[in-house]
Amino acid sequence: MSMAPVAQLRFAIVTGKGGVGKTTVSAAMGVRLASEGKRVLIAMCNAKERLSTMLGTPPIGPDVLEITPQLSAVNMEPEQALEEYGMMALKSRALYTLLFDNKYVRTFFRAVPGIHEWAMLGKAWWHTTELLPNGQNKYDIVILDAPATGHGLDMLRVPKVITEVVPPGLLRRDADRAWQMFQDPKLTGAVLVALPEEMPTTETLELATALRTELHIPLAKVVVNGVLPPLFSREEAALLERLPDGMAETVEADAGLAAKRRAIRERIQSECMTRLSQGLDLAPTTLPLLFEDAARPDAIRNLARRF
Ligand SMILES: Nc1ncnc2c1ncn2[C@@H]1O[C@H](COP(=O)(O)OP(=O)(O)OP(=O)(O)O)[C@@H](O)[C@H]1O
Ligand SMILES: [Mg+2]
Repeated sequence: MSMAPVAQLRFAIVTGKGGVGKTTVSAAMGVRLASEGKRVLIAMCNAKERLSTMLGTPPIGPDVLEITPQLSAVNMEPEQALEEYGMMALKSRALYTLLFDNKYVRTFFRAVPGIHEWAMLGKAWWHTTELLPNGQNKYDIVILDAPATGHGLDMLRVPKVITEVVPPGLLRRDADRAWQMFQDPKLTGAVLVALPEEMPTTETLELATALRTELHIPLAKVVVNGVLPPLFSREEAALLERLPDGMAETVEADAGLAAKRRAIRERIQSECMTRLSQGLDLAPTTLPLLFEDAARPDAIRNLARRF
């Protein structure tokens, strides 16, 4: 299976609830796309940085780190991103210092709602516009490892707000361009990361609805992470689920109860997968639950092959 349709995109937004595996999926997708010859940038949002452990690299900070010619990563930091933006707009450090080190300007900027979110989202978008000296895109695709659901949605709402309330000017022009790109299914896609459990599945469906109806951000992929390989056939599972609960008094009964719990989990897992594929009209990509440490380069390479 290739990474298509994600491989065709310029901007992938990896989102989902806290702890479901967004950074793991960003890393695995990045490694996979880089191995397919794409130039990839993974952009994290001021994260407690664990990507470097996953990729086996030095710490990843607010300056872009080129890991290989195909794969780069950055952990965006809002204040530094704002400064870069100011410098770009004013094209002079002296002017920047004059303006931005002015206490009133600083206060004004910090008072713009969502400015820190935009500093990071806008920076990630701006990297899609960067060119090499030969005129090619510097990055074929930017993978945004977005903040966990609530904050992630808040961040994605900002450019829309800017296009609606900020008067015409540089900020508005960039937000307009970014917003147009985020809504174009040929260029941008959300990658939703979910777990095969009931509540996370419901939340993933809600997140997809918010993306579709409120933000009009196209959905490119659903990744169900931490999937257990099925051990039992449907008939076996049905038999196991009929085992009585209660204290097991023999080793056999104990094993039976463990098998019952596993069978129930497998059933819930498959029900969640059905709900997701029907609700989203997309066949989910599944990533197995690894029993070794998943935050290691060999584990990430293993997951990268599963796409
Ligand atoms: N398929 C998997 N098998 C086993 N462990 C996994 C798997 N996917 C992720 N993990 C582990 O689960 C933990 C959370 O993963 P990760 O950091 O990718 O989540 P996240 O969604 O980015 O979290 P946050 O919301 O805090 O940024 C990590 O320790 C990671 O190594
Ligand atoms: Mg993360």
